[in-house]
Amino acid sequence: MQTLKKLKQLKNKVALVRLDWNVPIADGVVGDGFRIVASLPTIKTLTEKGAKVVVLAHTGDDGKQTLLPMVNYLKTLIPNTVVTLEKSTNFDDIVQNIVLMNEGDIMVIDNIRRWKGEKENDKQLASDFASLGDIYVNDAFSVSHRAHMSIVGLPKLLPSYAGLQLEKEILNLSSALKPKKPFLFILGGAKFETKMPLLKKYVSTADMVFVGGALANNFLKAKGYEVGKSVIDKNTPPLSGVLKNKKVLTPIDVIVNRTDSRGKNSWAVNVAEVQKGDTIVDVGPLTVKLLTTLMAKTKLVVWNGPLGWYEKGHTKSTIDLLNALASQTKGKQKTVSIVGGGDTEDVINQSNMANKFTFVSTGGGATLEFLAKGTLVGIKALK
Ligand code: 3PG
Repeated sequence: MQTLKKLKQLKNKVALVRLDWNVPIADGVVGDGFRIVASLPTIKTLTEKGAKVVVLAHTGDDGKQTLLPMVNYLKTLIPNTVVTLEKSTNFDDIVQNIVLMNEGDIMVIDNIRRWKGEKENDKQLASDFASLGDIYVNDAFSVSHRAHMSIVGLPKLLPSYAGLQLEKEILNLSSALKPKKPFLFILGGAKFETKMPLLKKYVSTADMVFVGGALANNFLKAKGYEVGKSVIDKNTPPLSGVLKNKKVLTPIDVIVNRTDSRGKNSWAVNVAEVQKGDTIVDVGPLTVKLLTTLMAKTKLVVWNGPLGWYEKGHTKSTIDLLNALASQTKGKQKTVSIVGGGDTEDVINQSNMANKFTFVSTGGGATLEFLAKGTLVGIKALK
């Protein structure tokens, strides 16, 4: 894999750079710019070498959203650099606008998932994009588990390089490929289809696996508990392979939203006490206590995805457990803590905890897949 350090001059060369700026947006404004900040060293390296930087990035899954909030955010980080958003999907227009760029300027192509063929890794689309640039750089670790055109198609057609964040992720996460024992794996959030297949792998490598977030609702339901009106994923693969495994732990208590004669309230209840009208919104304090006790005995904790319903602001148990993990990391035990996932990063940054863990990965599903397989399709494509 070629690294950016090998590059000398790039005067007037066009660098196509795949970045992952899929970050939380609230009211048209970037909520947490962790992934954008993480891409700055690569952007600066390329602009300082005189390249015209053309950014390929996505937001959301369906290609309907715009990268305008991310472009505005980037402009606040590097106010002296010209940054433009390219909205056209016509290659002649794009070529013309690239010609008009000066060295060190940045053009952001609006949401690469707008193109039919991006997700299918279409050959023609790859060759159209390749014709725009002189080199290709992948600094999008967190989407490098997707065999998309901008991840695996383009590097086949241009001299290709690993970006600085991608290198950093590989270096740090590789240290957990042969896990220190005891190893606790915590899996929360949603995105069932990505996470469930990996769960089986972790059940074999970890000593304990805790399932929280929306994923836990499926587990609780399958165990026969009432989950009321809680979010359940109907497409979740069968849990049979992991449900009865003794290593797999689920919440022992949960926070529910309940409406009764006293109005709408939140309660911490035992999982057996959830009622038909309840909505589970977080794990409860006893579960956090149990996990804190388990952590005290571990040498490695890998954590991906919040424990509660993050999108609705239920982050208390996640923050409490992150604090416990932070003290464990810095304390006598020196537990290796690897935390990842876009939503988890957001909680970490809002609580100013970014420096309290061994490594905060920019990836969610990508981090899990890298730790399970030791590589990703996007990394292989650079070799
Ligand atoms: C992520 O947020 O995990 C990455 O941007 C990948 O997004 P995706 O799951 O929509 O491919």
